[in-house]
Amino acid sequence: MRHARIPGPSPRRRNPVRRNPVAGILLSFTAMKRHAGLHPLSQHHHFALTQALLMRRAAEAPASRRAAALRQAAEKFLSFWKKAGEQHFREEEELLLPAYARHTPLEQDPVVARMLAEHAKIRGQIQQLQTALETSPEAGLPIEEGVATLARALYDLIRYEENEVFPRIERVLGDAELQALGQRLTRLHSKYSCEI
Ligand SMILES: [Fe+2]
Repeated sequence: MRHARIPGPSPRRRNPVRRNPVAGILLSFTAMKRHAGLHPLSQHHHFALTQALLMRRAAEAPASRRAAALRQAAEKFLSFWKKAGEQHFREEEELLLPAYARHTPLEQDPVVARMLAEHAKIRGQIQQLQTALETSPEAGLPIEEGVATLARALYDLIRYEENEVFPRIERVLGDAELQALGQRLTRLHSKYSCEI
């Protein structure tokens, strides 16, 4: 099977998060060997981790500018979600898992059950955050709680998928199936404006 390092965003783009040492910890998940067919999904994870880190940093901003930082991070994340995040969830559910289902009865797989449950939970958290932004522009607490909760949930989900779900699927899908899957997945690049 072809395994190689996952290409991240273009090094030519200036990314303030990359200069932060915390980013190195987050990005270590995507530095692991991964079959080339799953690179697009891991690359999506890279961008989502950057969003999670930005939201966490906003939640930790000094009190004097926290509300503005949280709102900006939340709006940025929602933009990312609409452009790419939502599609990533669908590609995992509509392409990745059906390929895995041809080899494994998913109803007996607790790892898949947890992944799908996390997807549903995060979709709910995103809807709540969007509602908080739209309906209570002056109420900082729901936004602060929503941003912090979502940042943690995204980080945990990506860690779980990279460490548990993807290796499990790589073990049962053949090289040709993984390659074919990779050709159907969306590759993100600068035109998607996912780099920040
Ligand atoms: Fe994912």
